[in-house]
Amino acid sequence: MRTLYRNADILCRGENGWYLLKNACLGVNGAVFDYVSETPPEGGPYDETVDLRGKLVMPGLINCHTHAPMVLLRGVGSDLPLQEWLFKKVMPIEDKLFEDEMRVGTELAAMEMLAGGTVSFSDMYFYPHVTADVIDKVGMKANLNRPVQAFDPNEKACDNRRVKEAVAFYDAYNGAADGRILIDFCIHAEYTCNEEVTRYLADIVREKHGNLHIHLSETEREHEECRNKYGKTPARWFADLGAFDSNAFAAHCVAVDADDVALLREKGVAVVHNPTSNMKLGSGFAPVQAFIDAGLTVALGTDGAASNNNLNMFEEMHLSAILHNGLTQDPTVMKPGSVLDMATVNGAAVQRRAGCGEIRVGNRADFIALDMLRPHLTPCLDAQALLVYSAQGSDVWMTVCDGRVLYKDGEYLTIDAERVYHDVARVTEKLYG
Ligand code: NI
Repeated sequence: MRTLYRNADILCRGENGWYLLKNACLGVNGAVFDYVSETPPEGGPYDETVDLRGKLVMPGLINCHTHAPMVLLRGVGSDLPLQEWLFKKVMPIEDKLFEDEMRVGTELAAMEMLAGGTVSFSDMYFYPHVTADVIDKVGMKANLNRPVQAFDPNEKACDNRRVKEAVAFYDAYNGAADGRILIDFCIHAEYTCNEEVTRYLADIVREKHGNLHIHLSETEREHEECRNKYGKTPARWFADLGAFDSNAFAAHCVAVDADDVALLREKGVAVVHNPTSNMKLGSGFAPVQAFIDAGLTVALGTDGAASNNNLNMFEEMHLSAILHNGLTQDPTVMKPGSVLDMATVNGAAVQRRAGCGEIRVGNRADFIALDMLRPHLTPCLDAQALLVYSAQGSDVWMTVCDGRVLYKDGEYLTIDAERVYHDVARVTEKLYG
């Protein structure tokens, strides 16, 4: 199937950053782009032509840290400190989540992400095989994992069932759905795992050339408690246990110090910035400019909907673009192009998805089209600034993943939205009724 999208303004990325093709053509052949130009293709049999007049096309967004089914906990325990929120409010509800709830939660999260322009996400939650099956059907991309925790400081790795499940999940699902589903490994955090289990899993990740997803120094309290307990920072703790000897990416990194930044740089650890969650939970501000200056790869994430309270990547882009300027009292700190990188190409790098995150011939056809005939998007004098400072998630008109249209003009093409809303009501009654 070949489709030619015509008359769109297309945000492309070259060696010198982002640029806009005006009134251009975008050819898609199956799951890949086969034509991108302001000049219409000569001949070339396309099966269908779609007019995108008034639309701006850009790469699909990549949410590199979330807990998708937590949309079912949207708003739970708001306005509490992180530890209290997590242990007293969130975890008792999580004890009631089983496969049916995970399916419904993932479907609702997928709807929200598609409507906001997200094509791919890196998740960290229980029953990930359920999430994998839903995402396979929905048509999105996801990097999933079975999170490993070990609350008992004396627990042996051989007794930890989560490690066994993580390996079995990797072996069964990595590369599923034509590669749309990739399986990472995960250690939830320093404060939820012991040293033996962490070292054991780190060895497995290295052997399998896997990708490791962790929470790191989300709060000053976590950072200081680790220093008191082990005499080192969480970043050094993970590094000493071998966790950074593989591809690794760390969510948050709010309370890291200068030595940690140097260590992350030395080990090639990528950072996922979650500005809404960090502000909502009162955790603080990750030193993103220091990460970028140090040459770290920085991607963006929403975190779960219980600490955000949505999965809207346009909000994360907007906050990333303005909060570091405010924090440093320097309006030149965070460039719109850097923020667009974080939400697209850097996300693809963190997910280790070659050929994703940029619109160019030969790449995977993951893109979104925004409806530009909106007051707050007019006039379009600087597309990068407009997308980062003015655009809303609700401006997304169409979301396409691997060439397949998944969302268009308010309609979900692979999800029965009415049935999902009905199921969410049923599950909500069970969890909170
Ligand atoms: Ni998180």
